[in-house]
Amino acid sequence: MDHKAITSLNVELPEDTYPIFIGSGILARVDFSKFILGSKVMIVTDDIVGPIYLDQVRKVLSKFASVESMVIESGEKSKNIDNLSLIHSKLIEKKNDRSSTLIALGGGVVGDIAGFAAASYQRGINFIQIPTTLLAQVDSSVGGKTGINHALGKNMIGAFHQPRVVVIDLDFLETLPQRQFSAGVAEIIKYGLIENLEFYNWIFKNRLAIKERQSLAISEAIEMSCKIKAKIVSEDEKETNIRAILNFGHTFGHAIESFQNYCGLLHGEAISIGMILAMRASKVVGNISDEEINGLEDLFRYFDLPVSVPDEMLPKDFFSYALRDKKVIDGNIRLILLRSIGSAFIEENETKSLFDKIF
Ligand SMILES: NC(=O)c1ccc[n+]([C@@H]2O[C@H](COP(=O)([O-])OP(=O)(O)OC[C@H]3O[C@@H](n4cnc5c(N)ncnc54)[C@H](O)[C@@H]3O)[C@@H](O)[C@H]2O)c1
Repeated sequence: MDHKAITSLNVELPEDTYPIFIGSGILARVDFSKFILGSKVMIVTDDIVGPIYLDQVRKVLSKFASVESMVIESGEKSKNIDNLSLIHSKLIEKKNDRSSTLIALGGGVVGDIAGFAAASYQRGINFIQIPTTLLAQVDSSVGGKTGINHALGKNMIGAFHQPRVVVIDLDFLETLPQRQFSAGVAEIIKYGLIENLEFYNWIFKNRLAIKERQSLAISEAIEMSCKIKAKIVSEDEKETNIRAILNFGHTFGHAIESFQNYCGLLHGEAISIGMILAMRASKVVGNISDEEINGLEDLFRYFDLPVSVPDEMLPKDFFSYALRDKKVIDGNIRLILLRSIGSAFIEENETKSLFDKIF
């Protein structure tokens, strides 16, 4: 990818503000001394990312601190309590204290579990995100949601723990498999759907450039996605209200992931189907048309993303998983729906009857 200037955005929160740096080849250009607190750094990565990038990242960080690392198995199944405990053990063995910094180098799985390890180790240590998948660069590395899965539900155990900085080096994407790349595109499309019609139309217009990973289109898509996420997180850090719209399609998507025991569709694929179901529910209560639903299906298909519910899953399965979702409040399922493309809202009434109408 061409080298270009570093783009810097801020996530502005009541108690702290942190930067997101975006650009090609920026890893070596970030002054980590501003973001690493003590003298010790622990990098958590996985067994696919580690062999490709760990040496390079260690070399950069060792200019600023003494660096240890640990590798977990790649994949959603690794986001579990056993690996969390392994990270804690390694932190203790290597005598890390409250001044240490934990760094996530990888996709959303590594980011979520390492972030939760940072949130829980000695009641919270410094944390830095270096995301390497498109999905992590546009979504999971920003906003401070960390956690692990439970056998009975996705992301059930976790904490809000904001990173001190997010370093999005676009060069990492060069080795990302196409299927993983498309899963990240699903989250980019989500931002257009929930918040910005103009961006949604831009994605449609630039779909070929995005699919071909042309650097200008990719950097614009990542910047715009991070801008939208940073704005929403700044308004509602702990998801008491508006932040929930970022979960558009996720109630249904998480149900698919849990039903498939986290070894079926990728997260981005599951939420593509979830977004189609949420669009159908939006049609029932709002102004979404069949034409718009078909348009979204075409866009997903263009990126080889699935649009149909897995054969083995029944409507009742969605409902029972939805009842366990974190968006359930006092027994009521809350769904994120669209008034129109670019305008999401939270529906809390009569959501059970919506389930009956969308399958
Ligand atoms: N915290 C949040 O706000 C948030 C938001 C969205 C999603 N998530 C979570 O993120 C997870 C999904 O993240 P993901 O899609 O990044 O999955 P992932 O972390 O499993 O990464 C996908 C695969 O790509 C590999 N990989 C990563 N970077 C690579 C690179 N540069 N080159 C080659 N291979 C690479 C990984 O080893 C893995 O096999 C889910 O657990 C989801 O719940 C969290």
